[in-house]
Formats: sequence, C-alpha cells, structure tokens
Amino acid sequence: MTETPARVAIVTGAARGIGAATALRLAADGFAVAVIDLDEASTAGTVEAIEAAGGRALGVGADVGDAEQVQAAVDRIAAELGPPVVLVNNAGVTRDNMLFKMTDADWDLVMHVHLRGSFLMTRACQRYMVDARWGRVVNLSSTSALGNRGQANYATAKAGLQGFTKTLALELGKFGVTANAIAPGFIQTEMTKATAERLGRDWDEYVAERAAAIPVARGGVPEDIAHTVSFFVSEGAGFVSGQVVYVAGGPRT
Ligand SMILES: NC(=O)c1ccc[n+]([C@@H]2O[C@H](COP(=O)([O-])OP(=O)(O)OC[C@H]3O[C@@H](n4cnc5c(N)ncnc54)[C@H](O)[C@@H]3O)[C@@H](O)[C@H]2O)c1
Repeated sequence: MTETPARVAIVTGAARGIGAATALRLAADGFAVAVIDLDEASTAGTVEAIEAAGGRALGVGADVGDAEQVQAAVDRIAAELGPPVVLVNNAGVTRDNMLFKMTDADWDLVMHVHLRGSFLMTRACQRYMVDARWGRVVNLSSTSALGNRGQANYATAKAGLQGFTKTLALELGKFGVTANAIAPGFIQTEMTKATAERLGRDWDEYVAERAAAIPVARGGVPEDIAHTVSFFVSEGAGFVSGQVVYVAGGPRT
C-alpha cells in the first residue's frame, strides 16, 4: 500500500516568532512545511526543529514583496516538497512613528511586506489550491487594524489584509479554498521586544503592564496563534471562510 503524500504548507516569516511556532505546529499536524524567510540560513533553526520532531521541512530564502523571488520560491517548493495547498502569510515588519514623522520609506516598506507580500505569495500559490480543489489561506492581521497610535502604516496594512482575506474567500470558495485572517493582540516575540526597546522600556515590566490590561491576564505566546492557524487549515474548518478572529486574550488588547 502506498502512503498518501503529506499536504504541503508554506509559512512566510517563519525563521522565528509566530511563523516558527506555526511551522512547527503544522508539521506536527502532518503537513510538509516550507519555511520562508528573508535569507535561507535564518530558516535553519525552524527546519531543524521540525525534522527533530519527525516532520518534513524545506527552508527557502525570499523577500515576499519581490515578485521574482516569490515565483522562484514557490516553484522550488512545488518541485521539492509538492504542490503548496496551505499558505500562511505571516512575514511582517513594523516601522512605527507618529504620522508627522513617518518617512516615505517607512510607509512603503510596511506595505511592501504585508500587502504586496501577501498578494504575491497568494497569487503564486492559488493555482495549486485550485488544481487540488482544496486549499487554505491564513493571513496575519492585527488588533492594530482597528487603529493604533504611532502605526498609521502598519494599521493600514493590517486592515487592508482583512479586505484581501474576504475577497479571496469570495473568489476562491468554489474551488474548495478558504481564506481567513487572524488578528493577534500582544504576542511576546522579537517584534514586540523591539517595540519595548524603542520605547526605552524594560521587557519584563513592559510584558507585566501589557498583561495587566488583557482580560485573560497574560501576554500571548506564538503557540496561541499557531493553534488558531491549525484550526483554520484543518479539514473540519472547510465551512469557515472570510473571517477575522481576534486572538488577543479579550475583544481587543
Ligand atoms: N507580535 C505581536 O504582538 C503581533 C501582533 C499582531 C500581529 N502580528 C503579526 O504576526 C506576524 C509575525 O510577527 P512576529 O511577532 O512573529 O514578528 P517577528 O519580527 O518575530 O518575525 C517576523 C519574521 O518575518 C520575516 N520577514 C520580514 N520581512 C520579510 C520579507 N520581506 N520576506 C520574508 N520574510 C520577512 C522576519 O525576518 C522575521 O523572521 C507579523 O505579520 C506581525 O505583523 C504580531
């Protein structure tokens, strides 16, 4: 009897943080996982952790906002792992500043990674999902989509991803493809550590202060988001599409 090959999932920005935890979780769920990040060497830790747990992974270097690099990455993944039918658009950056101080470059980079990156990755992967008549797209939005002081660029991109998600759900639904978004609140990663540093705050104090404002009384961890991704990409979630789930320990924090 031949074994059915594992379905292939791509997680972008998966060298660390939420992306790394998601890649590990999807591997544990039985997917072969392509770990994309800016440079291939940075993906080694995630790839090794997946392999050490008995899973299958491939590390690929690509800037998700660069059309040629995206096409090359997706072609390589399809050839080496198999057709990608799950895509988690997780790669992200922040360039926070008050509007009057925000530079053109800070605006453009945030749009490049979150919006152009998710668009290019999804466009490159959708044909594999349509061919398979099965697919799952999960986009990482944020509670910042509701507005956040000092994040005009990031809040705009994260709100834009919600519109992108709903449109994908409408266009791809008839092919068995769902699209959903996760809007995390405060998650303890390098990204939020950098925010604490920029504000000149001690990390432990910053976490305690943020946790005090969160209804479940703790900061989030990458595994909280990975768990929600795991639900959205599961077989049983095929009737859930075009949704945004706020994973924030409360309605919005
Ligand atoms: N940490 C939070 O509190 C939080 C809250 C809401 C939403 N998010 C979102 O979740 C996602 C992951 O966040 P995180 O906290 O794990 O961040 P992180 O900074 O720890 O990791 C982001 C990863 O994305 C990679 N990346 C950046 N630009 C890229 C590009 N152009 N191409 C490929 N990879 C690129 C980085 O190299 C890094 O490995 C992001 O989209 C972020 O906006 C995070």
